[in-house]
Amino acid sequence: MPDSGTSHISVTQFFATAETCGTIKRASYTGRLFHCMKTEQQHRDEIVHFGKLLHQSRLIAATDGNLSVRLDGGRFLCTPTVMSKGLMQPDDLVIVDEHGKKVNGSREVSSEIAMHLLIYRRRPDVNAVVHAHPPTATGYAAAGIALDRALCSEIIVTLGSVPLANYETPGTPELAEALAPLVAEHDAILMANHGVVTCGADLLNAYMNMETVEHFAKIALVTHLLGKQQTLSDQHVDKLREIRMKYHNHNQVSAAQGKD
Ligand code: 13P
Repeated sequence: MPDSGTSHISVTQFFATAETCGTIKRASYTGRLFHCMKTEQQHRDEIVHFGKLLHQSRLIAATDGNLSVRLDGGRFLCTPTVMSKGLMQPDDLVIVDEHGKKVNGSREVSSEIAMHLLIYRRRPDVNAVVHAHPPTATGYAAAGIALDRALCSEIIVTLGSVPLANYETPGTPELAEALAPLVAEHDAILMANHGVVTCGADLLNAYMNMETVEHFAKIALVTHLLGKQQTLSDQHVDKLREIRMKYHNHNQVSAAQGKD
């Protein structure tokens, strides 16, 4: 893939500096506030709504994907396993404790609950997690290519970069562990040969991050088809980083994120 003469620095490299760690990419304050004001029934209705949207937007097929939100008291509301996430009813959802043990619900919880819980443990600012198999972004994940090049200004402002986690078998603790090094600094991660996981201050933000990843993957694919990637210069990325700081830094939470 030929490049223009501009910088070849990846956004991941650019953002991997000590001073940016913990000061950006933190979920929005407004989202956190709205999340905390909702009742359990409203959270159930929202998961059903965004499950439908994931399916209608072709970000999942058949029984793919899972969604969860943080409730109070160390509890988490999650989608059931092996069911179309586009056809759920609020009562199909399952509540688990922080160890993944079911505390409410007639169905079995998602096979990926360990991955969701790892993100909640390491990101106290996160209240919602979405996992999907968007075709273009998952194609990148299957090709072993991270979405971390400075190709689009909007992506640098919203997500920073989208790294690629190593492959591990779906539904295993190893898969959750493969994400562990990336979770603290990223709201969207490609999972090699599998799919994408996103998170946010509330379910709307986590869902929109998923849409953004797939949209960016399509744009990146077009640059591959055209055979040319004209990446932004370091100076331009720097300015975008300032914008990101301006719009995201007000909701800064402690850099000392939760650890296992
Ligand atoms: P669950 O139905 O168990 O949530 O699994 C769906 C999936 O996408 C696994 O990666």
